[in-house]
Amino acid sequence: MSERTIALVTGANKGIGYEIAAGLGALGWSVGIGARDDQRRKDAVERLRAAGVDAFEVPLDVTDDASATAAARLIEDQAGRLDVLVNNAGIAGAMPQEPTRIDPATIRTVVETNVIGVIRVTNAMMPLLRRSASPRIVNMSSAVGSLTRQSGRAADETAGPVAVAYAPSKTFLNAVTLQYARELRGTNILVNLACPGYVATDLNGFHGVRTPEQGAAIAVKLATLPDDGPTGRFFEDAGEVPW
Ligand SMILES: NC(=O)c1ccc[n+]([C@@H]2O[C@H](COP(=O)([O-])OP(=O)(O)OC[C@H]3O[C@@H](n4cnc5c(N)ncnc54)[C@H](OP(=O)(O)O)[C@@H]3O)[C@@H](O)[C@H]2O)c1
Repeated sequence: MSERTIALVTGANKGIGYEIAAGLGALGWSVGIGARDDQRRKDAVERLRAAGVDAFEVPLDVTDDASATAAARLIEDQAGRLDVLVNNAGIAGAMPQEPTRIDPATIRTVVETNVIGVIRVTNAMMPLLRRSASPRIVNMSSAVGSLTRQSGRAADETAGPVAVAYAPSKTFLNAVTLQYARELRGTNILVNLACPGYVATDLNGFHGVRTPEQGAAIAVKLATLPDDGPTGRFFEDAGEVPW
């Protein structure tokens, strides 16, 4: 088994996920680049390797059971275990998303990727994570999933636009993550949520104000928590995000 820390980042071919992979790679870790498109995955791995990262390809569509199973098998063959899983892959879904006019299919599609995709990949990787001395799971959420920030006087620019598929998908993910943290309490597996801030990526037509590298920082921090670190919590750079 490799002595290097082994990580998998989903949706790592571009945007925040790519920079999370670069950040973990800069620590000397071996990083699996989870991505669904062959060419985009290959290109990302090549760029990361050119930057000195020990990156390897992990074909992965988070909406596909067989793909998640095959990804786990590949990591088992390659590394024998997994130390850190960053569930970063996500979609916004077709916009606009006013609740009174939404096509229910949009909600299903977004939840399939942003919530069920996380559960699917996490559970496929769980046997490999359990072999690690210090397993960490980081789920990429968003402050738009905070009910506190969506409601009442707290609703401000961090609440984002009205989006009945995307924002509640992150609220759902937050709730799901708490269930994992509760089940896994008492084990050495720490599972936390990260909000990257408003980052310029494809997801928002590059309207965000932060760089992908800035957005990646909180996930890198949660991926490198010490053994006595928090679990079942929701963080952004400035500290904890209210539920
Ligand atoms: N940008 C922001 O301001 C912001 C704010 C809060 C939270 N976030 C969250 O941060 C995460 C990364 O988003 P981003 O802004 O970096 O967006 P992005 O540039 O659009 O990247 C999203 C990544 O997810 C991948 N992906 C989507 N569906 C997938 C699937 N079914 N299987 C595997 N990979 C899939 C994409 O792959 P393809 O290239 O193949 O599409 C891409 O690599 C998301 O969870 C997002 O919700 C972003």
